Amino acid sequence: SVRCHYDFFIREANYTRLCSEKTILTVNGEFPGPTIFARKGDVVLVNVHNQGDQNVTIHWHGVDQPRNPWSDGPAYITQCPIQPGNTFTYRIIFSEEEGTLWWHAHSDFDRATVHGAIVIHPRRGAAYPFPKPHREVPIILGEWWNRDVGQMLAEALSSGGDFQPSDANTINGQPGDLFPCSSDTTFKLPVEHGKTYMLRIINAALTNEFFFAIAGHRLTVVGTDAAYTKQFTVDHVFIGPGQTKTVLLNADRGRSNHTRYYMAARPYATNPLARFDNSTTTAVLEYIDAPQATAMSDIPALPAINDSAAAEAYSVQLKSLASEEHPVDVPRLVDEHMLITIAVNEIPCTPGELCKGPRNNSLAASLNNVSFEMPSTAILGAYYTSVLLGVAKTNFPDNPAVAFNYTTDDLPLDLRFTARDTRVKVLEYGTVVEVVFQDTSILGSESHPMHLHGYSFYVVGRGAGNFDRHKDPATYNLDDPPYQNTVSVPKAGWAAIRFRAANPGVWFMHCHFERHMVWGMETVFIVKNGKAEEAKIMPPPPNMPKC
Ligand code: C2O
Ligand code: CU
Repeated sequence: SVRCHYDFFIREANYTRLCSEKTILTVNGEFPGPTIFARKGDVVLVNVHNQGDQNVTIHWHGVDQPRNPWSDGPAYITQCPIQPGNTFTYRIIFSEEEGTLWWHAHSDFDRATVHGAIVIHPRRGAAYPFPKPHREVPIILGEWWNRDVGQMLAEALSSGGDFQPSDANTINGQPGDLFPCSSDTTFKLPVEHGKTYMLRIINAALTNEFFFAIAGHRLTVVGTDAAYTKQFTVDHVFIGPGQTKTVLLNADRGRSNHTRYYMAARPYATNPLARFDNSTTTAVLEYIDAPQATAMSDIPALPAINDSAAAEAYSVQLKSLASEEHPVDVPRLVDEHMLITIAVNEIPCTPGELCKGPRNNSLAASLNNVSFEMPSTAILGAYYTSVLLGVAKTNFPDNPAVAFNYTTDDLPLDLRFTARDTRVKVLEYGTVVEVVFQDTSILGSESHPMHLHGYSFYVVGRGAGNFDRHKDPATYNLDDPPYQNTVSVPKAGWAAIRFRAANPGVWFMHCHFERHMVWGMETVFIVKNGKAEEAKIMPPPPNMPKC
């Protein structure tokens, strides 16, 4: 049933942060953008009117869009961008998702400011698998650049060098009290003593993974991405870009000395070669019914910026709820085993570039040593009309079980080089796929948030070092693994995911660090139509944008 329509007007607006004003791209003038509300099973239409002066697309991150890749959004993968002055109507088909997701621009670096929450409530008459909270609040973690992000992207790509780090991390668009000219606008969450609040935490940052905590309070995790988890209580949450964590907060400190508590987020950053804004962004939890004046807490303790053990300790606690109402269905038998190596590389500098990368080359990134090159027309349209040839090659390489020792520090120099190409992987409908993402230390090992469009997947295993296909599968959790759309692959380690390719279409898979994505750390799965009519890609809507 179509629940409702939203109108998204893409337009520029002036915003002031860190003492200076700049023009940013927004939806409806809002930053962060409007929240979309739905119930499980709804269909929501969003008319996106491009009133800006650049091409744009919108992606509904974590929504499977069964049989409807046309509305998925990534530019040049499923659609040509919406040009200035044009409108495209996205049809968002919610099927199994329930919980917290988000939407964001999927063109250039537009998602820096063009993003917002998606809240998916249970079906009418159904309830949460826990008592209903008093209030629900999106907490969107992001980044702010004083510079124009589009310009920054263009400069970095033409120079072959690294990107500028952001100037501030943000909570709901605000850097918080620790930044200049920011304390008046710090995000404040009013709470009443004795009540429970649901925080829908979204990491919308372009480059940062985060630790998040609230002083004086513990957080009970109840969901990740759009699925419920077994509850566990933590001092801090770890969240990669693209991920969401739904947590419950017990407001039980309104009768203590402090009545205002800092919430804070700080990056977890693992590549020593990259530059990061490692500053702490803050917001305030404010007891509005406190008997006395408003003393302020300290900033909550957060793990150190390179505390991989803390990140991993959090990730291994994630388990699916696996209840009668929210069952898991983990595939036991795998048809297609893929080992995908993740690398930041260098690529010989092309004439005319500035070549500011390592050893006067350009920075690049790859999966299985292919640095994905964006085509100039959408792969989905080309595939659907049988003219894929010339747009993409269907020979994304298989990686031999152990091609080299991925995670040592002294890898041979020639492994650093990759080549650009548009190579995709074709899957028969219904294939059970296991992907083992293997981080490498080619230009420095690093944790990578790997995201798949069109599917959620079970994260069946994770570990340090090189994946061992003889030993490691014995450690898999096939009973209640977490169900996610973005997995944090551990630095110098691996993560294994499983999904059944029963959603036909053209689906992007990429690192959710934006600079890795534009360097080529991605590929595409083409999942062929099934036999039955209900297993085929829907016909395209009449108003698909043209390239
Ligand atoms: Cu959150 Cu391909 O995106
Ligand atoms: Cu990455």
